[in-house]
Amino acid sequence: MTASAEDRPARFSEERSADLVAGSFAGTPDPRLREILTSLVEHLHGFAKKVALTQGELDAAIGFLTRTGQKCDEVRQEFVLLSDVLGLSMLVDAISTRTSSAATESTVLGPFHMVDSPPRELGDSISVVDGGEPTLITGQVLAVDGAELGGATVDVWQADDQGFYDVQKPESVPVGNLRGLFTCDAHGRFAFRTILPAPYPIPFDGPVGTLLAATGRHPYRPAHIHFIASAAGHATLTTHVFVEGSPYLDSDAVFGVKDSLVTDFPLVEDADLADRFGLAVPFRHAHVEIRLGPA
Ligand code: BEZ
Ligand code: FE
Repeated sequence: MTASAEDRPARFSEERSADLVAGSFAGTPDPRLREILTSLVEHLHGFAKKVALTQGELDAAIGFLTRTGQKCDEVRQEFVLLSDVLGLSMLVDAISTRTSSAATESTVLGPFHMVDSPPRELGDSISVVDGGEPTLITGQVLAVDGAELGGATVDVWQADDQGFYDVQKPESVPVGNLRGLFTCDAHGRFAFRTILPAPYPIPFDGPVGTLLAATGRHPYRPAHIHFIASAAGHATLTTHVFVEGSPYLDSDAVFGVKDSLVTDFPLVEDADLADRFGLAVPFRHAHVEIRLGPA
């Protein structure tokens, strides 16, 4: 016996699509998963209707996402790159720091923190090959109330003066070059020698690069040094120090620049600092204050 039209569950239609599919998730036991899936379906269906998505366009999108997945391996995360160039990584960062106060601002982690940084002594050089413009980084890790965070750790990694990370030049550079894990002194102070990083393109030999090219966008990031600072009882901070005056500060391919993170790297002739750190004058010097919020 066939049920009458009134008794039957609603069939799929353009008008009802979002309600019907969102309703199919109504029994999801985890309330957060239910909330996310319901909203995802509403926005996805709203988007497809708004642009009147064609079958060919859906096929192209599925092909693009398939190639994005196929490009991933243990050292290449094309989906992270996709999230970065779509600004989603920075949006999630902004949402997660909505209520933060005086802490140093965070920014994207990026895909190049894929090897552990070698532990180094304060004042050491993280550059273990020749070349590049000598640079001294001094800094201090503090709590938002100004308390010195003795024993804090500072993990740093950066590209070289040609814009390459160690892992991108495995034939010519040892892994660990331009990386270092430092333990701050009793006053939360740290210091290391390095070279001035160059701007560089994010990996663009995959589907994300194709997307950038098709949309007339360049793949470059302004020169920066990555930092992860941690101290017991405080929120771990993932951030960058951007080099003031670098190209691409106003058009970072991954939208990671925040004004508060742009730092001067002046050329200095400070004989005192040169003596303390075994540098020849002149050299670049940046001082970096990192304030960590409560855990
Ligand atoms: C990076 O700075 O290492 C980076 C960040 C996002 C995408 C690609 C690279
Ligand atoms: Fe980087």
